Amino acid sequence: MERIYTPKAGAIIPLVFIGEKTMSDLKKIVVSAAELLPDLFGVNDTVHKKGSIRNEVTEYDLLIQDYIINTIKKEYPNAVFLGEEGGKEAEDTNNLLFVIDPIDGTTNFVNNCKFSCISIAMLRSGEVVEAVVYNPYLKDMFFAKKNEGAWLNDQKLQIEDTRLKESIVGYSNCPYDEEITDFTFAFGKMLYKKSLDFRRMGASALEICYAACGRYQLYCEMILYPWDYLAASLIVEEAGGVISDCNGGKLKINKRCSVVAGCPTAHHEVLEMYKDFMQQKGNDIKVKTSIND
Ligand code: IPD
Ligand code: CA
Ligand code: CA
Repeated sequence: MERIYTPKAGAIIPLVFIGEKTMSDLKKIVVSAAELLPDLFGVNDTVHKKGSIRNEVTEYDLLIQDYIINTIKKEYPNAVFLGEEGGKEAEDTNNLLFVIDPIDGTTNFVNNCKFSCISIAMLRSGEVVEAVVYNPYLKDMFFAKKNEGAWLNDQKLQIEDTRLKESIVGYSNCPYDEEITDFTFAFGKMLYKKSLDFRRMGASALEICYAACGRYQLYCEMILYPWDYLAASLIVEEAGGVISDCNGGKLKINKRCSVVAGCPTAHHEVLEMYKDFMQQKGNDIKVKTSIND
């Protein structure tokens, strides 16, 4: 069902026409979508909870997702969409699939932390072929095209390899999955002891990109949704990094999974550590993996 929004007084709904089917179209779309964000005061009126008390959604999450979908549909009427705010059907299809997180870091957005992003992955035959992750506050545009590379604005990205001991690790406490809090913190303690330090900024798509551009060396989270990681996964890989679930498996399109991303050596060390950890402590851990949970 299509939603119609009445923008707040004074808001300008920019029109973007996708002419050439190129990367620059996705970049234009996220920049235009970001213009729909308000001057952040007053956002609190529009906050609702979904599922967990920590899982927040605002009218801007919905507005931005609809804007992106409607804009892309003009050029790709047969495209399929998987978005955080509804439309959770990632069918096995030959059509283009766009996976969208309209605001990753919604709680940051609500609290005016200025660490949030818009994330879009474009998939063809189940592979991410183009991706953008845009932080409008810093005007950081991460983007990648399959086999062509990854960039942060005009800077081509190339990950430097390093050991876990020298790595800044983005590690999240999985705020929406309280049933695995003990597990998350137990593994986190082990990981922290073997790394240089931790960060927890609250926007996983952006933080995975930080592991692609050298601000972090690694990102790890025990359970994420496809819209949190698919766009950023191409950015990491095209920057010469590695991304997988904690068992070393390919990231899922239709299901949730864990994510470890960053430079190859530290990534490998985390997989080994995870194997040991699961043998010792984790065998009875059950994580909900359906995207509809
Ligand atoms: C969340 C953020 C957060 C991460 C959660 C995500 P949202 O996404 O990326 O950092 O720890 O797992 O679900 O709800 O802000 O789009
Ligand atoms: Ca979101
Ligand atoms: Ca998210």
